[in-house]
Parts: sequence; C-alpha cells; structure tokens
Amino acid sequence: MSDRRRIEFGDFQTPDSLARDVCRALRRLRIPAASIVEPTCGIGNLAAAAFEAYPAAGVGRLAELNADYAAQTRLRLATIPAAGGIEVREADFFRTDWQEWLAPLPEPLLVIGNPPWVNNSQLGAISGQNAPTKNNSAALRGIEALTGKSNFDVSEWMLNTLVDSVAGRRATIAMLCKTSVARKVLARAWAAGRSISSARMYLIDSTSSFDASVDACLLVCRFGSRSSPRRCDLFARLADTHPCRQFGFRDGRLIADTRLYARWRHLRSSAPVRWRSGIKHDCAKVMEFRRTGGRYFNGWGQPVALEEEYLFPLVKSSQVAAGLTTETDRWMLVTQRRVGDDTGQIRSRAPRTWRYLQLHAERLGRRRSSIYRNRPPFSIFGVGQYTFAPWKVAISGLYKKLAFRKLGPYAGKPLVLDDTAYFLPCTTEAEADRLAGMLNEGPSHEFLSSLLFWDAKRPITADALGLLDLELARAAGAE
Ligand SMILES: C[S@@+](CC[C@H](N)C(=O)[O-])C[C@H]1O[C@@H](n2cnc3c(N)ncnc32)[C@H](O)[C@@H]1O
Repeated sequence: MSDRRRIEFGDFQTPDSLARDVCRALRRLRIPAASIVEPTCGIGNLAAAAFEAYPAAGVGRLAELNADYAAQTRLRLATIPAAGGIEVREADFFRTDWQEWLAPLPEPLLVIGNPPWVNNSQLGAISGQNAPTKNNSAALRGIEALTGKSNFDVSEWMLNTLVDSVAGRRATIAMLCKTSVARKVLARAWAAGRSISSARMYLIDSTSSFDASVDACLLVCRFGSRSSPRRCDLFARLADTHPCRQFGFRDGRLIADTRLYARWRHLRSSAPVRWRSGIKHDCAKVMEFRRTGGRYFNGWGQPVALEEEYLFPLVKSSQVAAGLTTETDRWMLVTQRRVGDDTGQIRSRAPRTWRYLQLHAERLGRRRSSIYRNRPPFSIFGVGQYTFAPWKVAISGLYKKLAFRKLGPYAGKPLVLDDTAYFLPCTTEAEADRLAGMLNEGPSHEFLSSLLFWDAKRPITADALGLLDLELARAAGAE
C-alpha cells in the first residue's frame, strides 16, 4: 500500500501484543461483554484479542473497508467458538447505519477498535476521500461548518457516531485514539448529558506500537443508567491501576486537572479578561526586519531605508518563551494604529515607507486570509491602543510553558509582539512587574495550570487565560 493510502485509511494495524494488553486491561477493569463490535477491524488483531479475552461473548459485528483485510479477519476468526455469531462486513464506516446494525445485539456491548488517526487537513493535502460522504471536500467543509473547527479528526467523527449509536444501552467503548480526540469526544458526550458511568484514559507509547509520534491513548468509556460526575481518570500507562490525574467537564468546559480546579475555581472570572494577541500581517518577508549597524534588512536580506515613524521593535513568540524580552534586533512595519485605519496617510507622513509598500503591493495584496479582503491596502490585524502600551506582560502561545514575561520600551518605542503571543497592556513598569509576578506563581499559576492540557497542539489560549480574574487572583496571592 502506498504511503498516501496508508495515511488516508490510517492503515497502522494494532500489534498483537498491544491488542492483548488492551484486552487484559479491560478484563482487569471487569468490563463485561456479551457482544463485541469492531467498527474498522483491519486484519482483526484487536477483534481476535477481544474474543480470546471474552470467550463467553457469542456475537460479533465487525466492519472493514478493505476487502482483503475483511477476508483475513474472517479467516482468522473462523475457528473460534463464537465464529457462528460473528459477521464481518466489508463496509464503509460512514455508510453504515450503526444504530440499526447494533440494535439486535445482546448487552452489554463492547465496542473496541482503533479507527484511522488522519485529520481533515492531512486528507486535504493528499486529496483523500475517506470522510463522511463521497463528496469529500464538501463533506469536510460541512464538518467544519458543523463544528466551527478547521481541524477535525476522522476518528473523532467515528467515535461520536458510535457514542450516539449506543445511547441508552449498556455498553463500553474502548478505543485507541489520539488523546486530543478522546478529550473532544468525552467533552461532547458530557455536554450532551450522555450517561457515562465511568471514563478512563490510558496513555500509550505510539512510537513503539505505531512508529508515530502522536499523543495517543486507550479511551475506556462505560455507558449505562448511572452517570458519574463528569470526570475521566488519566493513567500514565496501560498497566497502571492508580490514576495520575483526573480531567473533566466543569462549568461548561474541559478542565485538565479537576482537583486543582476545585481548589481555585473561585478565581474564575465572570466576565472574561481580554488577553490580546500580537500583530498579524501574514507577510514576514516584507513587514519584518533585522537591524544591524543602524540599518534595516528585510526578509530577503535587502537593506531598506524607511522613516522611523512606522517601525517598532519586535519580540517574537520564541523570544518571549526564552525570556529574551529586554532587547531585540527585530523590527516590524506597523502600518495602522487601529484595525481598518486609512493607510493612505502613510504617503505624506512617510514617503519612503509608502514607496517600499508600493514596491511590495502585489505580494501584500496576495495574502491568502480572507480577513484582508475589502480592507485598506497593507492592512494588519491585532492592532489597537493596547499595541502601543509602553509596558506589557506577555506569554508565548507556541510553547508549552506557563511563563509570563515583562516587556518594556526599547529604543524609545513600545515593543510589539507577533500574533502567536498573548499579552496584557500595562501603563507602568511597576504594574507590569506586579502582574507578571502574580501570574507566574501561587494561586494564578495553579488556576491556569488546572485548565491547560499540555499535550494539546496549542495548550495556551487567550480564552483559557481570560478565565482568571486578576483582582481575585491578586487578593488570593496576598493571603
Ligand atoms: C489503525 S487501523 C486499525 C485496524 C484494527 N482496528 C486494529 O486495531 O488492528 C484502521 C483500519 O481502519 C480501516 N478503515 C479506514 N477507513 C475506514 C472506513 N471509512 N470504513 C471502514 N474501515 C475503515 C483501515 O482499512 C484500517 O484497516
């Protein structure tokens, strides 16, 4: 199979050893099973391990898109005692009515599997079609419209479908998937009020099992008549019996550490604090410069002679993360004071800057994001009065570190940030010192830590930062 097809169909079969470890963990948890369901069974490794671990399960429903794999699975299971009760369908997950197919199965159900780990942007890049309908691109746009997200995992869609299909039944879903997918599926099920009696997440080493560097887990989610507090036990290894942490759903959102959150929940603001992001211009080669020996060089290394008026010292997100915020050799062309400002005035105020922008007008006009459409030429975003505040407290949204840094004026001008950093403006250095000190330790730090999932692609978000009430945090820190 070509690499492209392997990615599109997530063709990374679960090794037999991991399949057996998964089933051993399920037995240890006393997960019951009268019927076994494998929605994307591949060559049947997980299904075979499940029937071996549950010899009393007499019924099975297995599906697989790849005809050869479905045939291999049939052959493999032909000699086991439950063989007569097992149906292996060569079928597309997305064209299967799961609720109907699973309806006659005796309970409790065990839905076990390892669905493909591909997401819609990877599918788009390889022109893959393995999405909810045949019309792939329309379907993916449909998913985006539905979820409001631009990044959607195929397995997330599959798991959500399975959760909906077992609603109201005694069932366990035990799936190998990305940790981010498991969290989103749980959050959706909790938000919808599904009766989940227990949820567990076991981290697995995806490098040794699948030669993939992905944060992955076994999600074990039991459904039944009794709902537990919306909480999931997190285990560092499949063999562990004691959770290292619990995450859950509190006050309408996923919380990374429910115990820590319970301790500091009173610091949550009722009106979110507005953390700002740095300037977005999507054209670093033109808009960003290095200054050496008093001269500015653009992204092509060309020297440019511009007026000082629109140039501001820049601290990149990486510099913020590294704590290198007191000086910089980077500068940015800031063409507006506020979003939407008329850029035409640059012509008379700074004619050389205007000529430079004209020289690169085509490239700037070609910027892909739709936010630049019907805007004055050379527009930027993430700019306002706050951009020009003399002092700031900033954090990088790119790095997995809860470290807030003070930024002050440099070369007589306020430092500006790129759009991957978040900050709060301050008027004085003393205010910035107090704020950074408060955010970096004690109650504020613990409250924010309770919210953030460090294995997420971008764990730090303006939305999470904004939940900390600064006044309450200050008072709590002073206690
Ligand atoms: C990660 S492999 C896992 C196979 C098996 N569950 C296991 O754990 O050994 C994913 C499997 O899903 C199958 N698959 C991918 N897309 C599918 C779809 N739309 N419908 C059914 N099966 C699909 C692939 O052919 C592949 O065998």
